[in-house]
Amino acid sequence: MAKSKSLTFVFTIILTLLFSLATAKSPPFYRTISPTSLGLHKEKLSHLHFYFHDIVSGPKPTAVRVAEARITNTSSTLFGVVVMADDPLTVGPEPGSKVVGRAQGIYGSAAQDETGLLMIMNLAFTEGKYNGSTLSMLGRNTVFSAVREMPIVGGSGAFRFARGYAEAKTHTFDIKTGDAVVEYNVYVFHY
Ligand SMILES: *[C@@H]1O[C@H](CO)[C@@H](O)[C@H](O)[C@H]1NC(C)=O
Ligand SMILES: *[C@@H]1O[C@H](CO)[C@@H](O)[C@H](O)[C@H]1NC(C)=O
Repeated sequence: MAKSKSLTFVFTIILTLLFSLATAKSPPFYRTISPTSLGLHKEKLSHLHFYFHDIVSGPKPTAVRVAEARITNTSSTLFGVVVMADDPLTVGPEPGSKVVGRAQGIYGSAAQDETGLLMIMNLAFTEGKYNGSTLSMLGRNTVFSAVREMPIVGGSGAFRFARGYAEAKTHTFDIKTGDAVVEYNVYVFHY
C-alpha cells in the first residue's frame, strides 16, 4: 500500500514537472479576463446628433480631391474619385455653429450606376465627456437618398467596444459648389 502511494506521489511530481516544462516552452499570449478588470460595467446606448459640413469649394475647403481614375471625369457618378476630408461636426446646421468634433477620413465614389460613396471616417469628438474619444464609421453613402445608414464599427476612449449605426440626412446641398451640410443621428452601444 505504502509503495503504491509513493509511486503515485512520484508520478504526480513527474507529471507536474512535464506540465510546467510544456507551459514554460510555450508561454500563453492570451487569457480570459473579466470585463470589470477593464472598468467595463454596464453597456449603454447613446444617441449623438450633429451636423457634418463638407466644404469642397472656396479658399478653405474641408474636403479635397486626392486621386481619381482616368475615366472619372467621363463618369456621371465620378466613379473612382477619392477625397480626403477633415469636416467640422457642429451642434447646429449653420456654418458658425459650435464645433463638437471633426469627421476625418476618406470617401470615394464606389458605384458606377448611382452616386454611392464608400465612407471611411473617424468621428473625433472635442467637446464634453466625449472630448478625445472617437467613433469609426465604415459604410455606403448613396448621397441622393433621403436617409443613408452607415455602420459604426468601433471606437476609442469612451467609445471602446462601440457598435451601432449612423443615419445621414442631407440638410443642404449646393449643386453649384458641391458644398453640403448633412444631419447625423448616431446610435451606439458602448460602456
Ligand atoms: C478628363 O481629364 C483628362 C485629363 O485628366 C482630359 O485629358 C480629358 O479631356 C477629360 N475628359 C473630359 C470628358 O472632360
Ligand atoms: C479637450 O481635450 C483637450 C486635450 O486634453 C484639451 O486641450 C481641450 O481643452 C479639451 N476641450 C474641452 C472643450 O474640454
